[in-house]
Amino acid sequence: MQKKKPLNRRDFLRLSGLGVASLFAGGLLSACSPDEAVAPTAAAGATPLPPVAPSDEALDLELVMRAVPGEVQIFSGQPTRVWRYEGEVLQGDPNALQPVPNSYLGPIIRVKNGWRIRVHFQNGINEETIIHWHGLHVPEVADGHPRFVIAPGETYVYDFTVDDRPGTYWYHPHPHGRTGPQVYYGLAGLFLIEDEPDTPLPTGEYDVPLVLQDRTFDADNQFVYQTGAMMAQMMGFLGNRMLVNGQPDFTLPVATRPYRLRILNGSNSRIYKLGWSDGSPLTVIGTTGGLLEKPITKEYVTLAPAQRVDLWVDFSGRAVGEEIQLINLPSAAPDGGAVFPICTVKVEREESASLTLPERLSSVTWFDATQAVNRDKPREFVLAMTGGRGWTLNGRTFEMTAVADDELVRLGDLEVWQFTNQIGGGMGMGGGMALPHPMHVHGLQFQVIEREISAAGRSAWETLKDGYVDEGWLDTILVMPGEKVKILLKFEDFEGLYLYHCHNLEHEDMGMMRNYRVQA
Ligand code: C2O
Ligand code: CU
Ligand code: CU
Repeated sequence: MQKKKPLNRRDFLRLSGLGVASLFAGGLLSACSPDEAVAPTAAAGATPLPPVAPSDEALDLELVMRAVPGEVQIFSGQPTRVWRYEGEVLQGDPNALQPVPNSYLGPIIRVKNGWRIRVHFQNGINEETIIHWHGLHVPEVADGHPRFVIAPGETYVYDFTVDDRPGTYWYHPHPHGRTGPQVYYGLAGLFLIEDEPDTPLPTGEYDVPLVLQDRTFDADNQFVYQTGAMMAQMMGFLGNRMLVNGQPDFTLPVATRPYRLRILNGSNSRIYKLGWSDGSPLTVIGTTGGLLEKPITKEYVTLAPAQRVDLWVDFSGRAVGEEIQLINLPSAAPDGGAVFPICTVKVEREESASLTLPERLSSVTWFDATQAVNRDKPREFVLAMTGGRGWTLNGRTFEMTAVADDELVRLGDLEVWQFTNQIGGGMGMGGGMALPHPMHVHGLQFQVIEREISAAGRSAWETLKDGYVDEGWLDTILVMPGEKVKILLKFEDFEGLYLYHCHNLEHEDMGMMRNYRVQA
């Protein structure tokens, strides 16, 4: 990112057919969060939290999770003020919480499918918040909808049974209008569901999570987040420093054997085009909804905000001392013009392992598109800039509990949804602007059935499309300008109010988010 950027924000806007001035001229200001980012207060200002006693009931795992202000040594000199999650096991396996060393990231929560879990979440920061378990199929009251936010000092109790495919999930705040800054200041963590026994993949220290986030720091090593800047809000936040697991210049020491890398794009809005510096292809074994049926090879992987990808990487055959980098390749994503290093892998020791890449990874029962209740007429959601309102879904922005007629679905139904990212055609000021939108649906994993690109969107799309991993279950999908994506989703088990939204957190905070209601 320090290098020259062939395609910067202004160029991108120009390509999108919209000048910067016109954004300021219109009524867009009102669509944006009015308050400047409130930086985390010093640890001394922490809200006192009451102690929590373990329940009498026997549970597989009972946790206390707290959002608290803190300080982390990211660079030498001044520590960085952050917000972070900390956790404590009240009941169950003490190893279910695994702290990430020297990081603001929350502890990795490791669970087994089928576990009954209770989490007492305590808000120790100076604003409202709530935790959302991204990717999990949980009852509405356990989903962390913004209507469940708690005030500083309050506690929210989650109670659910893990009913998901083994894989890489995560948790983060979800208050309306403040998700971007809260994630930015450090509130996020991984939630891993253990593989089925006998899955022949690397485990323990050979199973490495990598959380990718971009940040900007001031001269005192403090996070800079500009929600007040109109352009930053419209585009989404893009930082100028790469952090991996909360650390700059991250280096992973490895042995000459296979590894599993679980990569989360935990950035507010940056889209990565991942590759290896020596041009080696990537072997993908998992997506947001767990392991693929069989490994696939990609020249590069496109990872949108909130998406996860699991890679198999075999370092055997490499020499001790050798270094390779995980890099971002140039693309037409906003600020994606430059090649920059994400992290370095350094081969440090010889070690043999008898693992080979499995031919089959998991068994998947796919949905049958012919069974969809609306197979001939997909439920369509148009993603567009609507003058005066910012980014919208079918022309609407978020309302806390409102659900429109076209947002009602029936419990048990299999449906086709289509996300249409419009280039132009939007009405009023800003109507010509188009950006990629990583669309996320709460409460389930879906399947991609079709993509289509318009002539106007094609050249940008071609810089990223070969990196889509549509072969697995997804909960978040990138929809490029001019692209239409059809997905298959099934509303199982739970009635209630769930969200679908753009996971560019600045877009989400501006209101590019809506409810859908599942009803019997
Ligand atoms: Cu990770 Cu509603 O989001
Ligand atoms: Cu989610
Ligand atoms: Cu968006």
